[in-house]
Amino acid sequence: MNVKIAPSILSADFARLGEEIKAIDDGGCDYVHVDVMDGHFVPNLTFGPPIIKCVRPWTEKVFDVHLMINPAQPFLKDYADAGADIITVHAEADPHIDRSLQYIRSLGKKAGISLNPATPEGIVEYVLDKLDLILVMSVNPGFGGQSFIESQLEKIARLRRMIGDRPIELEVDGGVSPATAGAVVAAGADVLVAGSAVFKGGEGVAAYKANMDAIRAAAAGAKAA
Ligand code: DX5
Ligand code: ZN
Repeated sequence: MNVKIAPSILSADFARLGEEIKAIDDGGCDYVHVDVMDGHFVPNLTFGPPIIKCVRPWTEKVFDVHLMINPAQPFLKDYADAGADIITVHAEADPHIDRSLQYIRSLGKKAGISLNPATPEGIVEYVLDKLDLILVMSVNPGFGGQSFIESQLEKIARLRRMIGDRPIELEVDGGVSPATAGAVVAAGADVLVAGSAVFKGGEGVAAYKANMDAIRAAAAGAKAA
């Protein structure tokens, strides 16, 4: 299976968010990664359900909504109603992950769990049957443009072994670029989030496509090796 690319719109021009989403769609993205921050669980604030609902009509691609909010549970239905396809909650922000994952699926959405860099992979062991996606944070969440934390490669490899042949995607988020994508995919990731590495080098489809192609090429090189 080919590696999927999920550009993070955290690095897009928020004044033109709909057009930016159309541009990554036209450039060949697989998912649209939506970073929701609350200024409490993470030291930054972004957008919530009304904005997601506004931009939803700009693409038919999967909306991969990464909730960096605490609490998350009371807001899950709002994100589902706004048009999320995958809803990912942070292990560190929810004492009742099992319940939240069941609830996300009951809303007809795919359920994901995200782990901060210091959180061990074992936390997913007893919810594997309730998961559609595991998101490994390879930076401390809150900001785009940070450096990839190398220790997460081992975690990705361990999670790949834990997943086995279950239909769970393994997504990696933070500091992913052509320089790091090869190692991330070699460790076992199959969905790559990239913010600053996609939304750079000028605005528009051509630049974003070239940036995504460069990440795909680095990932393909690792798979062939
Ligand atoms: C960080 C977010 C990431 C971020 C990635 O909290 O979850 O999705 O936008 O940005 P880059 O790719 O620039 O590290
Ligand atoms: Zn993210």
